[in-house]
Amino acid sequence: MDNKSNKLKIANQIIYFKSSELMTEITDKSIDTIVTSPPYNRGKNYDDDYNDKLPESEYFELLKKVFSECYRVLKNNSVFFLNIGDSANDQGKSENVAKLAENIGFNRIQSIIWVKSILGKGHYTPSGGNKRLNNIWEYIFLFSKGEKYELDVKSIGIKYADKSNIGRYSEDDLRDAGNVWLINYAKTTGKTIKKGHEAPFPIEIPFRCIKLVNANNVLDPFAGTCSTLAAAHYLGIPGFGYEKYPKLDVIKDRILNSNFTPQDQVLIPDLEKSVKILNDFLININFYEKLINKQLDIKKFGNIKKLKTIQRTLQSLNIQNPNLDAIINQLMDQSKIKGKKTKSLTDYLK
Ligand SMILES: C[S@@+](CC[C@H](N)C(=O)[O-])C[C@H]1O[C@@H](n2cnc3c(N)ncnc32)[C@H](O)[C@@H]1O
Repeated sequence: MDNKSNKLKIANQIIYFKSSELMTEITDKSIDTIVTSPPYNRGKNYDDDYNDKLPESEYFELLKKVFSECYRVLKNNSVFFLNIGDSANDQGKSENVAKLAENIGFNRIQSIIWVKSILGKGHYTPSGGNKRLNNIWEYIFLFSKGEKYELDVKSIGIKYADKSNIGRYSEDDLRDAGNVWLINYAKTTGKTIKKGHEAPFPIEIPFRCIKLVNANNVLDPFAGTCSTLAAAHYLGIPGFGYEKYPKLDVIKDRILNSNFTPQDQVLIPDLEKSVKILNDFLININFYEKLINKQLDIKKFGNIKKLKTIQRTLQSLNIQNPNLDAIINQLMDQSKIKGKKTKSLTDYLK
């Protein structure tokens, strides 16, 4: 740590340990993109000295100053990503924060919805009680400074499910994945949190933001654990952070030892991959041939309805299994011939 300037340089990342109300270290129009999540002002325990429950007017005054500095340092025709969520009993604050950025001069482009959890998969804070449902998503507001910005939507794109769209909508097999990002929120009881931070966002968020604009540098004025700088480090670009209440060990660990790897763009990470692996395995061992040839104990597989459930699951994940389709078609045909709709699979194969 450099005591004179109160800053820390780790690899190609610089963190200034001061308030971002004045970012004098950063020159005008020098930053390619900004990714940040401000304090939410609802009593989170970022640091013992830090009061995350300021009077509302003071909170908005702080954000106004920081956003004005963001506007100053951002290059023209560049983009600012602002992550903030409402808590169950604090509805509407995010919108007011977004309006503040608009009043400073940023154009609001759109909202990206970060889904933190679905059906209990992924962490979220239970706060709704019997008055409201828990909030399991947050905003990533997308702002620009100037109209001539460009997003490289395919840099975080997905492959077409329907390959006939290649050539019709796009030259290659890549399409924009859309503005709902399912990124599980890591459980907040790990080392990072215990050692001093309650609210880091996943590194996947700044990773996607930086990729989306092909930025050559990035700023996070509320750096926290330095997730944004960890993404910048991973992508090999310089990052600048401001953090008024730094936890040095946490920051070093986050930037250097996060073991980050980009997440597959799938509905439930790893579940889809596992289903694919299992499916390939079943195709390779000629599972269905054995099934037809009665070399497997059919009773274990129940009736045709269950096979159709598996088929529907594979179809909705865009996973092909021609063997399964063939056997179901064959069984359906036989069923039509015999005039029976749902017969046990065991009966068909007798
Ligand atoms: C929501 S957290 C950011 C978390 C960060 N995105 C991460 O992944 O770790 C907001 C951070 O802003 C810091 N902070 C609050 N006031 C600040 C100020 N005036 N200047 C710089 N940082 C400040 C807090 O200490 C807290 O770490």
